[in-house]
Amino acid sequence: MQILRTTEQAYEFVWQARRSGQAVGLVPTMGALHDGHLSLAKTSVGQCDQTVATIFVNPTQFAPHEDLNQYPRTLDADLEGLRSVGVSAVFVPQGDVIYPPGFSTTVQPPDVAQSLEGAFRPTHFQGVATIVLKLFHILPASHAFFGQKDYQQLCVIRAMVRDLNVPIEIVACPTVREPDGLAMSSRNRYLDANERSRALRLAAALEEAEKAVLDGQRDPAAIERIMHATLLAGGPDDGVDSIDYATVVDAITLEPIRQIQDRSVALVAAKVGSTRLIDNRLIDP
Ligand code: PAJ
Repeated sequence: MQILRTTEQAYEFVWQARRSGQAVGLVPTMGALHDGHLSLAKTSVGQCDQTVATIFVNPTQFAPHEDLNQYPRTLDADLEGLRSVGVSAVFVPQGDVIYPPGFSTTVQPPDVAQSLEGAFRPTHFQGVATIVLKLFHILPASHAFFGQKDYQQLCVIRAMVRDLNVPIEIVACPTVREPDGLAMSSRNRYLDANERSRALRLAAALEEAEKAVLDGQRDPAAIERIMHATLLAGGPDDGVDSIDYATVVDAITLEPIRQIQDRSVALVAAKVGSTRLIDNRLIDP
């Protein structure tokens, strides 16, 4: 597995493979890899001739009060994990490689970035869209793999690729969960034992939402009440500490819906202790 440190090395690696007609899969990450990240890499290794992962904790997608400095960094274990699933190369840019002095151009994210995460993290998707478009240029892959765990991020990237005619195929990969249902996340390692068990309320709320729909409930407001109740039940010892949103929206536009239809998605964002967690589930009656 090659380690690529400069944009020139990265471009050359991908371009050589593409020139000879190979499919190249790109797996962008911020490191602190778990089995969710590795499932993206495995899917790419299965579908493409070469897979290139990236590890870069992108400062522009963090607000000043967020966890950029504490964000876990586990490079040696990350490289070992990527090597073990057959990744060909990893781009690990250092220092000013991505944002050299004078950097001032950014991507204005699409409309689908406005609500939900965009409402609570107003600069987040501008940072994500900018780094992802840069990575698509630095590593001109044929395919790029993203997790449904970050459902809105996937929608933002799909819309950006469509709106800006980026020649890459976006592949969505299912959310990988712990055996008890908790969606894997690099931020789960912030949770102590009590918080870890309260964090299960996110997956439970989504499951209750789906159950209600399967039982015939079609009113989004009723489903949102069920999700809120599940997240908070039992009070501060059992439930989450606060809810940013728990909602059912159109699975493509992320706009509010009047009735549950065949393309709906339930999404939650909640705080457990000081850790903010997100999860989602496609709801198909
Ligand atoms: P990061 O949070 O490291 O996630 C990298 C990729 O792994 C994303 O596509 C994310 O959706 C996916 N992922 C995370 N947890 C997952 C899980 N439990 N199951 C399946 N996939 C999962 O998302 C980012 O980094 C950044 O915003 C990035 C796109 C790299 C831009 O900086």
